[in-house]
Amino acid sequence: MNLKGRDLLSIADLSREELLFLVKETGRLKDLQRRGEFFRPLKNRVVGLLFEKPSTRTRCGFQTAVYQLGGEAVYMRPEELQASRGEPVKDTARVLGSYLDCIVIRTYSQGYLEEFARYSDAPVVNALSDQEHPTQVISDLYTMLEAKGRLEGLNLTWIGDGNNVCNSLLLACGLAGVNLKVSCPEGYDPDRRFVEKALNFARESGAEIELVRDPREAVADADFVYTDTWISIGQEKEAEAKIKAFKGYQVNDELLALAKDDTLVMHCLPAYRGKEITDSVLEGERSIAWEQSKNKLHGAKAVLASIL
Ligand code: CP
Ligand code: NVA
Repeated sequence: MNLKGRDLLSIADLSREELLFLVKETGRLKDLQRRGEFFRPLKNRVVGLLFEKPSTRTRCGFQTAVYQLGGEAVYMRPEELQASRGEPVKDTARVLGSYLDCIVIRTYSQGYLEEFARYSDAPVVNALSDQEHPTQVISDLYTMLEAKGRLEGLNLTWIGDGNNVCNSLLLACGLAGVNLKVSCPEGYDPDRRFVEKALNFARESGAEIELVRDPREAVADADFVYTDTWISIGQEKEAEAKIKAFKGYQVNDELLALAKDDTLVMHCLPAYRGKEITDSVLEGERSIAWEQSKNKLHGAKAVLASIL
């Protein structure tokens, strides 16, 4: 497996084997830490963190991952960079890419990430864009593997917004052979391009990828029900309209009563209790959201140790 020097801007940048390798590596690094063993492949390496959107888990997860792997992290506040005064992306990328060994970026547009990566000598990792959240779903697949002991043939149901996390899950499930039902209100389905790419991957892996409008139908045979906020960062103005449109798409006890007894609930967090999920489900015994968030640290280590 040679991921050295590679960008990770989209799950589609990975082959099936590379994705599965990163998922298993997440587990291996989690086990190493549990046993108190040190793994320091990033000694003398410097990783930049550039976050243009808020983040709790991904930012702290990557920063901690760098330290645990023996490297140094440089956190850059976007408003303190000359980019905030108009320095072009390509100039910023050329300079930072010549100092740093890797740059982890959370931003709005996928095009910005692509341009950054084109001009940076150092590999770029997408820590969430409006289109995708690849590092999230790598650790999510590990969370599923950890819970059920396998990936292929598992049934995952996405309830809510066809957003960035959903797009990355479509690609990852298509590659990994996980069956995925996506249930969104009309007008909020994931971008057709991601569905089509996922269907293409699924032809190889055997995954079944479906859009199911009725959430009650979508959860029936789910091993996992996954939801995310209805209002992603940057969509604050749409909040009122979305809250109305998403009525009926809340993951609550009534919806879960239609699922199997052993269906588990996932949420990438941050969660908005009373909106996309109820407190009783998030805090309940079917929720694996906390283990899921813990696994983000190990997923970040798997990505960094593989590309650096
Ligand atoms: N799940 C996730 O990416 O969380 P943060 O926005 O806190 O990084
Ligand atoms: N879809 C959410 C995910 C946050 C981790 C957002 O983009 O805000």
